[in-house]
Amino acid sequence: MRTPSVILERFKEHFGTGASVYRAPGRVNLIGEHTDYNEGFVLPAAIDFFCWVAVGSRNDDKIVFYSENFQEGAEAELGDLWSQRKGTWADYPLGVAWALKEAGHKPNAASVYILGEVPLGSGLSSSAALEVAVGYALQHTSHHGIDRTALSLTCQRAENEFVGARCGIMDQFVSCYGRAGCALLIDCRSLKYEALRVPPEIRLVVCNTMVKHEHSDGEYNARRSQCEEGVRRLAAVLPGIQALRDVTCEQLEENRARLTDVVYRRCRHIVSENHRVLRMVERLKSGDILGISRLMRQSHQSLRNDFEVSCPELDLMVEIASAKPGVYGARMTGGGFGGCTINLVEASKAKAFLESVGAEYESKTGLRPEIYICEASQGAQAMDPKQETIRSAAVR
Ligand code: GLA
Repeated sequence: MRTPSVILERFKEHFGTGASVYRAPGRVNLIGEHTDYNEGFVLPAAIDFFCWVAVGSRNDDKIVFYSENFQEGAEAELGDLWSQRKGTWADYPLGVAWALKEAGHKPNAASVYILGEVPLGSGLSSSAALEVAVGYALQHTSHHGIDRTALSLTCQRAENEFVGARCGIMDQFVSCYGRAGCALLIDCRSLKYEALRVPPEIRLVVCNTMVKHEHSDGEYNARRSQCEEGVRRLAAVLPGIQALRDVTCEQLEENRARLTDVVYRRCRHIVSENHRVLRMVERLKSGDILGISRLMRQSHQSLRNDFEVSCPELDLMVEIASAKPGVYGARMTGGGFGGCTINLVEASKAKAFLESVGAEYESKTGLRPEIYICEASQGAQAMDPKQETIRSAAVR
C-alpha cells in the first residue's frame, strides 16, 4: 500500500521543491445515462480511485505539468494558454488552467505532478478526475476559493472548449461533490443535488470489459446532436420546452411522426431514463431491491436498443452478471461503446461474484476483465500527506 508521501517524493525528484497534495475521484453512474446534457437527472457515486496531484509554486510565469501515467511533461506560459493546445492528455490540465483564467481566477505559476489511479479510457471518468484535481489544486494554491459548483462548470468548460469533447456536467460535478457512502441525485438543470446513502448491504462492483471501441467521441457528439434535433422538432408544437427534460412520454408518443425513427428512439431513451432515475431513488429509499434490478435492466436495454451506445462486450458482461447470485442490478455505465458495467451486489456475495464473472467473461471473450469492488467516496480534497492511503491496484 502506498501513501500520498509517494507523490510528494516524486514531485521532489522531478521539480526539486516542496508541494501540497490534492486528489479528486473518478465516478460510477448507478443510473441516468446521457441525461445530463438533456438537463435531466443522474445518480452517480464518486469512487475510491483518484487522480492525485502535487503542486508547488514557481518564480516564472509558467504552468508546468508532469504525468506519471504518460511519463511525459507539458508546459505553457500562463499568458498564452489557448495557443498551447496539443491534442494529447496535456490539454485536460492546460484547459483547466485556461478556463480558470477565463473565469477571472488566474492561477499562480505552478509545477504540478500528476498520478492518476482511475483506469484510463474505462468510462470511470479519469479525465474529470484529472480536471477537478488540477482545478481544485490550482484554485486552492492561488487562494481564489471558488465554490465547487463553479469549479465543476469550469472543468466542464475546459473539456468542452479546450479539449473539444461535448460532455455534460455529471462527471465533474460528482468528482467535486462526492460524499463517502453515498450516491448523488443531481438535477442537471438546477445543479441541486441530494446525497443518498448506498444501503450498507450493497457493494458497488464495477466490471471493466477492457474494450474501448473506436469513434466513441464522435458517436457521443452525434447522440447529443440527435437529442438537440429532437428538441428543435418537438418545440415547434410544444413551445414551452427547453430540453428533453421537459418532454413527457405522452407528448413524445403524440408527436412521434414529427421525428425520424432514430431521433424518436434517442428521445425515448432520454425521456424514459429520467423517469427511471427518479423511480430508482424511491426504490433505494424504500429498500425495494427487486424494483432496483428491474430499473437497471430497463436502463441497459434502452441504452442498447434505443440509444445504441452499448456493444457486444458490455451486453455479455451484463448478461453474465445478471445470472449470478446476490446481484441486485447490472447495466452498462458511462458514455458506452466499451468501458465498464455497474453491478449492485449483496455484500456477502461480492467476492464470489468477482471470481465467477471474471472467469466466465474471460473464457467467453479471451479478454481478462478487471473487476473492482468500489467504495462510494468523498469528492475533491486537500490531503494530509501522512494520513491517507493510495489504492494500490484493481481487485482482479
Ligand atoms: C460521459 C460524459 C457525461 C455523461 C455520460 C453519459 O461520461 O462525460 O457527461 O454524458 O458520458 O451518461
